[in-house]
Parts: sequence; structure tokens; C-alpha cells
Amino acid sequence: MKNITLEKITEAARKSFEGLPDERQRLLVQTLLKQVHNFAREVQLSHTEWRGLLAFLHRVGDISDDSRSEFSLLSDVMGLSSLVDLLASEPGATPGSVLGPFHTVGSPWLTNPANLIGANSGQPVLLRGRVSDTQGQPLPDASLDFWQNAANGLYWQLDPLQPRDNLRCQLRVEADGSFEIATIRAVAYQIPTDGPVWTDLMQLAGRSPWRPAHFHLIVSAPGYRQLVTELFDAADPYLDSDAVFGVREALVRPYQRVSDAAACQRLGLAGSECLEMRVNLILAKDGSS
Ligand code: BEZ
Ligand code: FE
Repeated sequence: MKNITLEKITEAARKSFEGLPDERQRLLVQTLLKQVHNFAREVQLSHTEWRGLLAFLHRVGDISDDSRSEFSLLSDVMGLSSLVDLLASEPGATPGSVLGPFHTVGSPWLTNPANLIGANSGQPVLLRGRVSDTQGQPLPDASLDFWQNAANGLYWQLDPLQPRDNLRCQLRVEADGSFEIATIRAVAYQIPTDGPVWTDLMQLAGRSPWRPAHFHLIVSAPGYRQLVTELFDAADPYLDSDAVFGVREALVRPYQRVSDAAACQRLGLAGSECLEMRVNLILAKDGSS
């Protein structure tokens, strides 16, 4: 290592991590190192640019805490979170989509059919679906973890006027894999714009901060791969410009007017017509590639 040259440095740095005992971790670190070196070589990274990059990462760290990860947001807006979701998606199964920062562990368990409307304003809708395997067989042991934003665009964590756990629940499906959640129509909203990811990067690039209206779901069943996904409102104007690249065709669902007096009553609506979004959620077997 006495004579480190431009030609030798990448291999020398890569080899210095040979001692990592975990094979997978070794592969990740050494490959990342090689790609980062290649990036610096390709753009001929200057001292000023390198210091600027480190200062940016410092600002990303400075604004992050237990309840806010600007690093996750950076990963989201760079498309990295979605790339990892796409790499993990199984053919024939419902594709995954970003978890986002507003999931909380331990939402209240409700019985099916669930009703989340409570004191929320907004357009009452039904989310109705069925959980099955890739052969179409229902998964009666499946459960859902569901969360969404309120009519003002905010998740309850960012809005002191909403009760704790507003518009979220966990739910066990019926024996035929079906479920129903009476809720309000989710609305489009902006990713956080008070941190360096927005001010130093996205805004400069003229990017949109909007996410199209969506419901979040985590679907679990014993023996099957857990699915973290989203369902998007087919009428939303931001479907083609989601700030975090979460939209997949199979996740875009239309609201349809249905005639169902009992369901309308569950939504608190007079009359017999209401809006429903229907979805089939398909899980891949655990251990599939
Ligand atoms: C969300 O869907 O809630 C979200 C996802 C990524 C960044 C910000 C918000
Ligand atoms: Fe969200």
C-alpha cells in the first residue's frame, strides 16, 4: 500500500473490506465502494463538489430525528426506495410500493367491515377487496394494516386536530379473503418541503412535491411474503408525476358508483348509491425467489 495511485486506489480500498465476516455485507460494501469510486472518476469529482456533497448529507442528518428521516425522503425522491420495492416484487403478485414515513406499528384492530369515517369530513367511499394467492385461492388467515391521510391532506401525526390513529386500522379478512373499509377518499398531498431534500435538490430541479392520492396497505398472511403497497385514485392528476415514483399500473384503481343501500348506510349516506374502489391483493408464497 506504499504507492497508492489513481489506478490502484479502488482495488486497495475494496480489498481493505475483505475481512468483513458476513459474505452478503462484504458484497454490499465492496460493490458500493466500487460504484462510488466509479462515480467520482466518471464526473471527475472536484474538492469543492465533494465538500458540497458532504455538507448536504450533513444537513440531511441535522433535520432527521426519531420521527422524521430526511434520509428516507432522499432515498424516496431519488427513486431508490421504489427500485428496491420493484426488485422485491414477484411476478403474478400485487406489486409493492413505498412504505413512506407515516406508518405506525400497532394501529387499532377493527372487525370487518371496518368503518374509519368518524368525525372526518371528505367524500365517503368504500374500499373493498379480496386477498388471494397467485393461483386465485383466497387467504382466510390474511390481515391488513391500513392508513391514509385526512381530507386536509395530512396524516394524523402532523395534525394536532386529528385524533390519534385517525384513518388507520388493522383488520382480519373473512374466510373468503374479503374485506371492506368504509373511509373517506384520500387526497393528493405534498412531501415535506421544509428540509434540504426539497430546498437544495428538488426545488432546484423544478420537480413537483406532489404525491397522488393513495391508500397505504401492508398485507400479511402466514407462509406468504408480506406486501407493502399503495392503491392510487385513478382520477388523480398527479399519477404521472409522483414525487417518490410509487405508481404502478396495477395499483391504480377507479372509484365506481355502486348501488348498495346497506353499504351506503354503513357510510352514513342516505340513498342507495355510493362510491367503491375494488381491489384484488395477491400475495406470493414465502421463499419464492
Ligand atoms: C407517503 O406516502 O406518505 C410518503 C411517502 C414518501 C415520502 C413522503 C410521504
Ligand atoms: Fe402516503
